[in-house]
Amino acid sequence: MRSIHNILVTGGAGFIGSHLIQHLVTKYPNYNVVNFDKLTYAGNLENIKSVERASNYTFIKGDILDAQAVTDCMSKHNIDTVVHLAAESHVDRSIEDPNSFLTTNILGTANLLNAFRTRFENGDATLFYHISTDEVFGSLGTEGLFTETTRYDPRSPYSASKAASDHLVSAYHHTYKLPVILSNCSNNYGPNQFPEKLLPLIINNIVEQKPLPIYGDGLNVRDWLYVQDHIEAMDLLIHEAAIGENYNIGGNAEVTNIDLVKMVCNIMDTSLGRCEGESENLITYVTDRKGHDRRYAIDTTKIKTQLNWQASVSLHEGLKKTVNWYLENSDWLENVKTKEYQNYYKKQYSK
Ligand code: NAD
Ligand code: TYD
Repeated sequence: MRSIHNILVTGGAGFIGSHLIQHLVTKYPNYNVVNFDKLTYAGNLENIKSVERASNYTFIKGDILDAQAVTDCMSKHNIDTVVHLAAESHVDRSIEDPNSFLTTNILGTANLLNAFRTRFENGDATLFYHISTDEVFGSLGTEGLFTETTRYDPRSPYSASKAASDHLVSAYHHTYKLPVILSNCSNNYGPNQFPEKLLPLIINNIVEQKPLPIYGDGLNVRDWLYVQDHIEAMDLLIHEAAIGENYNIGGNAEVTNIDLVKMVCNIMDTSLGRCEGESENLITYVTDRKGHDRRYAIDTTKIKTQLNWQASVSLHEGLKKTVNWYLENSDWLENVKTKEYQNYYKKQYSK
């Protein structure tokens, strides 16, 4: 078990980061947890309200593109461990506007690595953990799985920017011997996810009885992982992963988009007391995403055999928990649907 005192989490007000912050602050009261987040449209302090007053938690509003702010934050809080999640994360937005993905995801990661390197070389830092995606591996046909040695083949501006950041992290390990680890995870879902991603968007639209947009033929396949399972895997990696290693994380829950959406429709017809099939009637096939990757699927053998981790929440159970959370937190959903969101949504689906 690695020794940790002061841990910096970037992007801790976003979807996955907010679950990680809550987990670390409550499970490890002896760690000082610092959350560095710019609060873009995807960052929301409501997500981490439960820990905002905890004595071992500090929030800093800052931009990872501001190298000085990153350096100052690490030295002020005597950071020994960095878990880096801050990113522009939505593929459709990267197709509309690649540049913010290139700056935040690549240059922002470089700023963190540079600041961490100074601390490491002074003997003050021990771990840089970079969170990445399975999308860096490209698209699979009907057969096969991504392993840790699959060749990188990113195909969207988002995945290309994440691939570049992964390569920087590995390059800093090889060149400067920085103690890094890296994980590539499949599609997460659960509470606090911004309603531009497929699942929260579908849940929101079913509540509002709006069309459920399915790109292309709906037969693209994703592997889905309940966010709390990802957090458990990250906890293990933070404490036990071998330095310089990369790990794939997935839910062993492959499904086509259309089948996934139908599962949500069935769950929600029951929860909302609607007639069977009522929500499915809202399904609307729309123009496909440009360059839409066909299939992602993960081989989780490495993390299972080395660290004894596997997903514990089944897809059906996870979807029910997620739907319940969104129905019980309708205020959260209303508050994030700002003018910016309405404009984005209108632009996205008027094409
Ligand atoms: P998210 O979009 O919900 O949250 C991103 C967070 O980063 C937000 O709080 C935002 O304010 C912050 N941020 C953005 N730009 C910033 C900047 N310049 N400076 C500081 N903070 C900034 O993203 P998420 O879904 O929680 O993803 C977190 C990480 O996990 C990302 O690196 C993403 O690539 C990776 N990942 C996500 C998934 C998924 O399914 N969501 C799967 C695998 C990997
Ligand atoms: P998304 O949640 O954006 O995640 P990613 O692109 O990172 O996998 O999309 C998941 C899948 O759902 C992807 O194949 C695209 C598809 N999709 C739709 O069919 N309709 C939608 O409105 C959205 C947002 C996504």
